[in-house]
Amino acid sequence: MKEKLKVLVDEATKDAKTITTEAEYLNIKSKYLGKKSDLSSYMNELRDMSIEDKKTFGPIFNQMKNDLEALFTKYYEEATTAKETVTFDPTLPVQRKGGSLHPVTIVSKEVTDVLREMGFMVITGPEMETEYYNFDGLNFPPTHPAREQYDTYWLDNGLLMRCHTSPVQVRGMQKYGAPIKMCVPGRCFRNEDVDPSHDNTFFQLEGMVIDKNISISNFIYVMKGMLEAIFKREVSVRLRPGFFPFTEPSFELDCSCLICGGKGCPTCKNSGWIELCPGGMIHPNVLRESGIDPEIYSGFAFGLGLTRLAMMKYKINDIRILNSGDLRYLQGFSVR
Ligand code: DAH
Repeated sequence: MKEKLKVLVDEATKDAKTITTEAEYLNIKSKYLGKKSDLSSYMNELRDMSIEDKKTFGPIFNQMKNDLEALFTKYYEEATTAKETVTFDPTLPVQRKGGSLHPVTIVSKEVTDVLREMGFMVITGPEMETEYYNFDGLNFPPTHPAREQYDTYWLDNGLLMRCHTSPVQVRGMQKYGAPIKMCVPGRCFRNEDVDPSHDNTFFQLEGMVIDKNISISNFIYVMKGMLEAIFKREVSVRLRPGFFPFTEPSFELDCSCLICGGKGCPTCKNSGWIELCPGGMIHPNVLRESGIDPEIYSGFAFGLGLTRLAMMKYKINDIRILNSGDLRYLQGFSVR
């Protein structure tokens, strides 16, 4: 019997050294200590042994059982703790990178900060819009050819993705009435073929002022003040005629070139001016539609291209970078 037990202990020790997982540990435990194990059957033999043998082997079996159990546990613990040290080293330095704001978020905040100081409230409107607010309320009748330029995504639920922030003019007037000074930064959509200067998703900032006796001079004054605060330098502005169904008269506002200061350079194509933002005096039909009497109130509105502004500010030459989510480009911008 003693010989058999020795063989058993040798084998069990050899097996114990191979333990690497919990499953192996449990299998080996059951193989050597379970009900069907050799040790178990030896223990059953005790019953038929002489009193003398019982006294000798009883304690030996018990001791062996405890020893083997301790041995298996020891190897199991050693194997699993060793593994943990390989996968997790608490002494490694933690790599922590600071986050950064998206370039459009930065310029949007800069512009709204300036406008807020000038007394504008900042509001938002839905990106998924009704045809009424996107077009009809802005004096685009259903068959108006100007709709052609504003092709967007029409949804199965009867709504559309707004193609500009102008619908929030109507929403703002209807909700707050006149007088009002508000601005609306937000995402817009167009059914565009994507190339370095066009994307189907971009950002605008709508601005609107309505009060008694608001004229084009107020428009020029506010735009000049706003641009000087944003660019932190003196700028000149000029108006060229434009067309939008919701303004009359409508303008394209240019600003003296930020690179050459108006002398002429490749950026401004030697004209000394950069096209910056459209705007105009709010059409009486739009005021009336929104419940404001055009005989009492007048106002101006503008639509600043935030995406374009971010591209100008950071000299980004491909619009697609901005919606790419590519951190190699987007990480590098910080607030002035
Ligand atoms: N919503 C126009 C566009 O996306 C831009 C615009 C033009 C906004 C004139 C205005 C405005 O507020 O008065 O093309």
